[in-house]
Amino acid sequence: MPIDWRWDRRQRLLPVLAPHHRRAIHGVERGLESLRNDRKRWNERFGGRGFALGREPNPFLKKYLRYLPRGKTLDIASGEGRNAVFLAEQGFDVEAIDLSEKGLKKTRQLARDLGVRVRTIQADLDKYPIEGGRYDLIANLYFLRRSLLPRLKRGLRRGGKIVFETYTLEHRTLGVEGPKQAKYFLKPNELLRLFKDFRVLFYREGIFREGGKKKAIASLIAEKI
Ligand SMILES: C[S@@+](CC[C@H](N)C(=O)[O-])C[C@H]1O[C@@H](n2cnc3c(N)ncnc32)[C@H](O)[C@@H]1O
Repeated sequence: MPIDWRWDRRQRLLPVLAPHHRRAIHGVERGLESLRNDRKRWNERFGGRGFALGREPNPFLKKYLRYLPRGKTLDIASGEGRNAVFLAEQGFDVEAIDLSEKGLKKTRQLARDLGVRVRTIQADLDKYPIEGGRYDLIANLYFLRRSLLPRLKRGLRRGGKIVFETYTLEHRTLGVEGPKQAKYFLKPNELLRLFKDFRVLFYREGIFREGGKKKAIASLIAEKI
C-alpha cells in the first residue's frame, strides 16, 4: 500500500498514519515503557548492598527438592538468584533468566561465594525464545505471566517437571507486602487448571506462614506427559 507523507511544523517529513497504525505504535511504545519501568523498579530493589529477597532458597523448593530431576534447569525471573544458586549447589545444571542486570549480578556474586556455576541470561521473558524440549526442570517462583506458560511447557522434555509457586488473590486480604496489580495473583484453583495437561504430583493452596510472615499462595509440582 502506498504511504502518504506530510511535513510537520519543524519541517520534518513524516508518514501519514492510519488510526490503526497509530494505535499499534502506541501499544508498542506503551509496552516498551512498561518494560523499562519494570527493569528500573527491580534494579532499584536489587541495587542495594544486601540481598533484597534474601540468600536462602524458597522453602517449598527446598522441602520438595527430592521430587525434582537433577538435570538441565531453567529458573525464570530468577531475581537475585537465591533459588538458582541453591539448585546449582544441589548438583542441578542451572540457567537463570531475569530482566534485572542488578539481580543477575547478585546471582553471580552468590554463586561465586558458594563455589558453584550458574549461567545468567538477561532477557525479557515476554520475548525470550525458550528452546523446545531442552529442560528437565523449570522453576517458576513468584512470577506470573500466563502468556508464557505454553513456551515453558514446550521447553520441558517429556517427563520434565515444573515447580511453581506464587500468590493467590486471597493474599490481598492479608494487608501484607505483595504485588500491586490484580493480574499478578492466581485465582482459586487457577494454577491447578493451568497444568491440567500435566501430571500434577503436588498441589496446595491457602494461607501459610513462612519465615514468620503470612502468605496466600498456591504451590505445584507437575510433570510433562
Ligand atoms: C518477585 S521477583 C522473583 C524472584 C525469584 N524468582 C525469587 O523467588 O527470589 C520477580 C522477578 O521477575 C523479574 N521480571 C519481571 N518482569 C520480567 C520480564 N519481563 N522478563 C524477565 N524477568 C522479569 C524481575 O526482575 C524480578 O527479578
